[in-house]
Amino acid sequence: QINPDYDLSTAIDPNSVGLRQKLTSYGDAHFSLFMRKLFIKAMGYSEDALSRPIVGIVNTYSSFNPCHANVPQLIDAVKRGVQLSGGLAIDFPTISLHESFSAPTSMYLRNLMSMDTEEMIQAQPVDAVILIGGCDKTTPAQLMGAISANKPVIHLITGPMMPGSFQGTRVGACTDCRNNWAKFRAGAIDIEDISALNEELAPTAGTCGVMGTASTMACLLVALGMMPIHGATAPAVSSARLRIAETTGTYGVQLAKTGLQPQTILTRKSFLNAITVLQAIGGSTNAMVHLMAIINRHPLLAGTITPETIDAIGRQTPLLVDLKPSGDNYMTDLHNAGGMLALLHELKPLLHLDALTVTGRTLGEELASTPFRPLGHDNPANCIRPLTNPLYPSSALVVFQRGNLSPGSAATMKASASKDRRLLKHRGRAVVFDGSADLAARIDHPDLAVDKDSVLVLRGIGPVGNPGMPEAGLIPIPRKLAAQGVADMLRISDGRMSGTAGGTIVLHVSPEGADPSSVLGVVRDGDVIVCDVEERLLNVEVGDEELRQRIEQRAQYLVKVGTAPWVSRETARGYRGLYLREVNQAEHGVDFRFLTAAGPRGAEQQDS
Ligand code: FES
Ligand code: MG
Repeated sequence: QINPDYDLSTAIDPNSVGLRQKLTSYGDAHFSLFMRKLFIKAMGYSEDALSRPIVGIVNTYSSFNPCHANVPQLIDAVKRGVQLSGGLAIDFPTISLHESFSAPTSMYLRNLMSMDTEEMIQAQPVDAVILIGGCDKTTPAQLMGAISANKPVIHLITGPMMPGSFQGTRVGACTDCRNNWAKFRAGAIDIEDISALNEELAPTAGTCGVMGTASTMACLLVALGMMPIHGATAPAVSSARLRIAETTGTYGVQLAKTGLQPQTILTRKSFLNAITVLQAIGGSTNAMVHLMAIINRHPLLAGTITPETIDAIGRQTPLLVDLKPSGDNYMTDLHNAGGMLALLHELKPLLHLDALTVTGRTLGEELASTPFRPLGHDNPANCIRPLTNPLYPSSALVVFQRGNLSPGSAATMKASASKDRRLLKHRGRAVVFDGSADLAARIDHPDLAVDKDSVLVLRGIGPVGNPGMPEAGLIPIPRKLAAQGVADMLRISDGRMSGTAGGTIVLHVSPEGADPSSVLGVVRDGDVIVCDVEERLLNVEVGDEELRQRIEQRAQYLVKVGTAPWVSRETARGYRGLYLREVNQAEHGVDFRFLTAAGPRGAEQQDS
C-alpha cells in the first residue's frame, strides 16, 4: 500500500494536525514530512499510531524536585487515558523548578520555564498538550507559556503531599517549618525536636500541603477553567490522583479535536472567578504576582485586570477555607471536604458561571453535571465554611492603594494571616535593613534599636535588587523580642513571602528599593510609617520635598558607585543580563517585557 504522504503531486498543509503541522524547514514540505516520519519511527511508532491526534505531555520530573516525584506515574496514567481515547501520547521534557533548588530563587527562573514551555509546545507537532506541573512557579510558568503559544492545553498538577506527624500533632510543609523554626529561634523547642521535625515536615511526594502558592495556583487553575474540577486537591500519592491523570488524558484527546485555545477559554470572567477563589481560600500573596503575569500575556486582557481588581473583589469575598496559614487544616482536609467542587458550589452566588472551561462546557455546566454530596456545615471534618459564617469576613488579601510608600499599587498583605490583628492599623518607627545580608548580620544583635512597635523594613529584595525577588519578606522577629514573647510585628519589604507563611507583612512594595526613583529606597531609621489596612494606606511620614531631595541625592550616589543591580543591568551577561534588563515590577507580574502581550513596544507604559 502506497502512503499518500509521499505523493508529490498533492500539497501538504502545515495548518493541518499531527506530524504535518508547522513542518521543520527542509525547504520541501514532502521531504520535511518524510524526515519527521523516518525519525519518529525510530521510537517504534507505526503509521497507524502516527495518524492519530498527538497529545503532548510535558514532563517536569527531576530528582531535585520532590514536589514532582510522582510525575513518571502520572505520565503512565495520562498515556492510558490518551490511548484509550484513540490519541497518540508523546511526552517530552521541559525544565523543572523546585522552590529549594532554584538559586538564586525559583521566581528568577519562572520566566525561563515559561519560555521553555512556550517554545517547546510551539516547536513540536502536538495537537494538544497536557502540562504536568505542581511546585509553586511551575504552573504559572506553564500557563504563561501556554497563553503565549495559544495551542490547546490542559493542566494536570502533581497534587499535595500528605501531612506528617510529630508528637501526636499533624505537621506539614511549610507553615509548620516556619512556625517551628521561629519557636526554635526563640528557644521554645530544642535542637533534638527541630531535628526530628525535619524528618516529618515533607513526608511524601507532592506539593506543600497547606494553602501555599502551589495549592493556591492549583485552585486557581480550576477556577480559570484550565483544569478539571477534581484536579486541584487529590493527594500526590493517592489513586485518585492517578485517575485524574487518566481522565486528563481523555480530555487531552477531546481538546486535540475541539482545538479550544487558552486565549479563547480565558476571558475577563475567568479571571474574576479566579480572584474570587483566591480571596475565598486565603491564597498566597505570590498568586497576585503570577495572576498579573498571566493576564498580561493575554492580548485581549493585558492591563485590564490589575492588583486593584484583586482588592476590589476581596472586599466582596469572605474567606471560607480553613487551611494553614490563615486557618488550621491541610490540603487533605480540603480534599476530603469535597475540594474545589464543594467550594465552587458554596461560592456560586459570587461566580460567573457562564465562563468557559477546557472541556468546552461552562463552569456552571461542569458544576451541574458533576455529582456532589455536601459534607454538611455541622460536620467537624468540613473545613469549608458557608458564605453566612466565614472564617474572615472579607479581604483575605489586600492591596495598598493609598499613601506614598508604594505608588506602584502592588503592595500586598495577607491580612487573614496576621497573627496580631492590632497591627492591621499601626504606626511605628522604621528599622531599615538593606538587603538580606544586612538583615542577617543585625537582626539578632542585642544592641539593635528595636521594640515591639517598630516597623521592620527590608529593601533591596525586589525583582531587580535581588534578582528573582526572594521570599525573604517574612522578616524574623528580632531574637531578643521573640524571647519576650513578641510573635508578630509590622514588616514591610519589596520582596515576596512564601504562601505558607503568616504575620502582619506588607510585600511587593513598588517601585522596589533598587529603583533610583523608589521611596522605599530612601526610608531611614526612625521615620514614622503608618499602615492602615482598612484604609489601604501605606505611608511614610516624610514631606514631599524632603523625599524628593533624598531620592535625588541617592540617585547621584548610585551613579557614582555604579555597582547597584540597577546599573549592572547594562553589563550583565547571559540569562541574568536578560533578566535584569527586561524584568518588570510586581504590579505587572515580574515578567519580561518582551514576553508580555504588549511586547517590547509596550514597555514604555510599564516601568523602565
Ligand atoms: Fe514545591 Fe512547596 S516546595 S510546593
Ligand atoms: Mg512556596
